Amino acid sequence: MRDKLNDLASAAAEIATADASRLAELKVSLLGRKAGKLTELLRELPTLSHEERRTLGAQANELKKKIEADIDERERTLATPSGAGADVDGSMPGRQAWRGALHPVTLVVDEICEIFRELGFSRVTGPEAETEEYNFTKLNISLDHPAADAQDTFYVGQGTLLRTHTSPMQARVMETNKPPIRVVVPGQVYRRDAFDPSHSPVFEQLEGLAVDEGLSFVDFKAAIDYFVKRFFTRDTVVRFEPSFFPFVEPGAQVQVQCVMCRGSGCSTCKQSGFLEIMGAGMVHPEVFTRCGLDAERYTGYAFGMGPQRIAMLRYRIPDIRLFFEGDMRFLGQFT
Ligand code: DAH
Repeated sequence: MRDKLNDLASAAAEIATADASRLAELKVSLLGRKAGKLTELLRELPTLSHEERRTLGAQANELKKKIEADIDERERTLATPSGAGADVDGSMPGRQAWRGALHPVTLVVDEICEIFRELGFSRVTGPEAETEEYNFTKLNISLDHPAADAQDTFYVGQGTLLRTHTSPMQARVMETNKPPIRVVVPGQVYRRDAFDPSHSPVFEQLEGLAVDEGLSFVDFKAAIDYFVKRFFTRDTVVRFEPSFFPFVEPGAQVQVQCVMCRGSGCSTCKQSGFLEIMGAGMVHPEVFTRCGLDAERYTGYAFGMGPQRIAMLRYRIPDIRLFFEGDMRFLGQFT
């Protein structure tokens, strides 16, 4: 009995260095209620003589307490981090994972297309490398117009260029679809411009075209008014000013009340209280003719806007170059 006690005491010495799974094993093999070695030993006590029972019983109980205390302590030690991880603060919030987000220009383009979808417009896209014919001639822009000048346009070959606007898609859509036509055309356009806070040699445009019998300037104004109030706020004031583009007659410039000063005049709106957001007008009869539609039968309206400029106004972004720089801190703000 005494030997067994000594054996147990040396077996118990392992507790101090045991890992978690070994510790669990030791706990069962020493203290287990059915087959634990110490339990068995205590069960033998009644068979001993009175004298032995007193001394060995006391020792066995001592050992049991010690083993229990040692196991307890080892469990606690294993539960607290030590070594390399000891200085880790478990209560610190984890590092944030980057979630990924759509580019703000994509978000704005999607939203504009969605608003026009509610008015029956479908979304289409077209080629960025265009011919002079589609980019200029079919739109009633003569090749001696300043816009056609090589100073403003990236030519990629004889008679081919990077489109300077999304308007050539008006011609492509009219040639391949029978009215009624209602399309919006987002896409990139190219101009030999500086890269500065308000210009970029490549930027986004969004063209709109509606053609039908009997469409009037009233339909055009109603569609634009609906768009502006949905995109900005319901109380945004919209203004139509006469303007000139060779492919529309009459031509207009659409302005909204300045989002910065609400019309009272500031540096953003150059004290006018209004900001230009798109060029537009009623499709010029000459454009219908050049695109194969009967100019006597059909009327239509067209408009072109710059989603980057519109995003800049809405989110008060001061510099168009931010859209191109790929800085996640900027781009991640627009989800
Ligand atoms: N294409 C013109 C530009 O790039 C914008 C524009 C003006 C488009 C009038 C239109 C329009 O459809 O009717 O400046």
